[in-house]
Amino acid sequence: MDSQTSRKILVTSALPYANGSIHLGHLVEYIQTDIWVRFQKLRGHQCYYVCADDAHGTAIMLRAQQEGITPQQLVDRVHQEHTSDFAEFAVQFDNYHSTHSPENQHFANYIYESLLQQGHVTKRTIRQAFDPVKQLFLPDRFIRGTCPRCGAKDQYGDNCEACGATYLPTELKDPVSALSGATPIEKDSDHYFVNLANFQEMLREWTKSGSLHPSVANKLDEWLAEGLQPWDISRDAPYFGFEIPNTPGKYFYVWLDAPIGYIASFKNFCDKNQIDFDSFWKDDKNSELYHFIGKDIVYFHTLFWPAMLTSAGFRKPNAVFVHGFLTVDGQKMSKSRGTFITARTYLNHLNPEYLRYYFSAKLGSGVDDIDLNLSDFLNRVNADLVGKVVNIASRCAGFIAKRFDGQLAATLPNPELYQQFIDEGHEIAESYELREYNKAIREIMGLADKANQYIDEHKPWVIAKQLGQDAELQAVCTQGLNMFYVLMSYLSPVLPMMAKQVEEFFQISLTWQPKPLLSHAIQPFKPLMQRVEQKQIDAMLDASKENLTVTSPASSQSAPVKPALEPIFPTIAYEDFAKVDLRIAKIINAEHVEGAEKLLRLTLDIGEEKPRNVFAGIKDAYAPETLVGRYTVMVANLAPRTMKFGVSEGMVLAAGPGKKDLWILSPDSGAQPGMRVK
Ligand code: MSP
Ligand code: ZN
Repeated sequence: MDSQTSRKILVTSALPYANGSIHLGHLVEYIQTDIWVRFQKLRGHQCYYVCADDAHGTAIMLRAQQEGITPQQLVDRVHQEHTSDFAEFAVQFDNYHSTHSPENQHFANYIYESLLQQGHVTKRTIRQAFDPVKQLFLPDRFIRGTCPRCGAKDQYGDNCEACGATYLPTELKDPVSALSGATPIEKDSDHYFVNLANFQEMLREWTKSGSLHPSVANKLDEWLAEGLQPWDISRDAPYFGFEIPNTPGKYFYVWLDAPIGYIASFKNFCDKNQIDFDSFWKDDKNSELYHFIGKDIVYFHTLFWPAMLTSAGFRKPNAVFVHGFLTVDGQKMSKSRGTFITARTYLNHLNPEYLRYYFSAKLGSGVDDIDLNLSDFLNRVNADLVGKVVNIASRCAGFIAKRFDGQLAATLPNPELYQQFIDEGHEIAESYELREYNKAIREIMGLADKANQYIDEHKPWVIAKQLGQDAELQAVCTQGLNMFYVLMSYLSPVLPMMAKQVEEFFQISLTWQPKPLLSHAIQPFKPLMQRVEQKQIDAMLDASKENLTVTSPASSQSAPVKPALEPIFPTIAYEDFAKVDLRIAKIINAEHVEGAEKLLRLTLDIGEEKPRNVFAGIKDAYAPETLVGRYTVMVANLAPRTMKFGVSEGMVLAAGPGKKDLWILSPDSGAQPGMRVK
């Protein structure tokens, strides 16, 4: 790579959905991209980084409905949240736009019309599940039912989380709409399809162009070999999106206009900053285009997207960079373990640059998943950043301030060593360029070891005590600080906030491979980074568990969007409710039931002559002795049920997800056994 000639580079990250919070999984991508962009800029290239919120689709429409606001209000609120989360993680976009924007509508129409004119679009009637109550077609994810393979209940319309089977929503047993609880009906509708097979040859060539990591190119080859199916790009009203030109009641499917958001965001940026749009999107000889994405959305970016671009006369990307998924302590992020950590929760407890560093130390150019191992995270940040890098400066800076009035020496005592640091920069740059950040970090930490070794050998704290050794002391500390200076320039794409403090300390802007700072005045040294404490990590995990109980915006861990909607029960008439006889009950006895895993036997006084015997599935949540004497609420007219352990004469009311997390309802004091609850 010739660093002398300036390149023109446009970079994107995938557009996060506007119905959920940014979490640490997302941040793998945005941090990875931001580092690459900062590196390119540091090397003097003209590089722009654009992104946007992905605002359209059924999930967003329904979430807004559920919150009682308009989709636009939801999108605006989430835009605020996303931009401040990113800013605090130092993810620095040149522009952050929205797919619900005039620019995006313009380009969506433009690309669609080019597909239409070239004969790539066909209309077909398809039959789909329809919610007769909500009056809308149901995306697969909004249908729940019993898995046709293993019989697990409450599974999604397209796959079973219990046995992993994938199927069609029509194969699901006892299907219900997750929105209304109604049984879906089947209904016909006209849809518009892009004939992807028309682009087969172009795509085949593109896979061979070297733009894709071999594992991604192989995947694409497989898809091409299977033959490309027509792609359904339309959805029926009601839908939050753009209406298809001259096609009333039909909307572009969210995934049609989502990648067009890359173009739209850049156009919005160009208009504000007088930048030549066409030189990036029409000319692939003099500019470069890269998309960073996660492995779950490769299909959209390597098949649909190049086809759309080609049809409309836009250039194709030079490469699509695909990363793997984040796991935490070796497992998929989990809400109940507290490892589904949002950007905001992290920021409330920990320094964002710890995470930027940790991800860098782990990220390579492949599609492997990356694991955030929390004890490794703590050790690594403390050992490398605090123990090695910052330590170099803190061991030298004080002497320069106190003994030399902040003035560095006029020459380096060991210029060869400094030169080694500069020479190593070529390797490090190559590693960054190839997105082998883990390798770059290894190289940089190797240099940090050398710098510490130098200081250990020359012991400035010993020289400082010897009379007449001032020149030697100043020289050694100047050498140390200059090595630190080079290291921080190499680390600045990863640690931009710390780099900024270092620039203030040295009173100079960091550049790649700088000239040594000699006879130069520096500022007093302020601590650059605190150690990570285990208690901060614990507090973050606890807070992530708490997030569970307050309803936070839906966070989809991966596309396709999982609706975070609970099934909404059908409404019932008052007469139906009035049939339920709810009574205040006093628990006069509670005991274990031999052979029962979940049940306690409760004896309940409800003011009748004979107390009721009720089996309640609350054994994980309560020790029986803690219940005796308490008041609760029971359904008194439930038909008696004969169980293995005896007859249950009613039911007590409890709330919560189950197991240990279950709470029986208790009335305020004053309520007496037998009182009716109304
Ligand atoms: N809106 C689509 C992308 C449209 S791009 C034209 C989408 N949004 S998303 O919010 O679900 O994901 C945004 C990016 O974050 C995707 O590249 C996705 O792969 C990535 N990640 C989401 N969860 C992730 C992890 N747990 N780990 C790593 N990356 C993850 O998809
Ligand atoms: Zn199953």
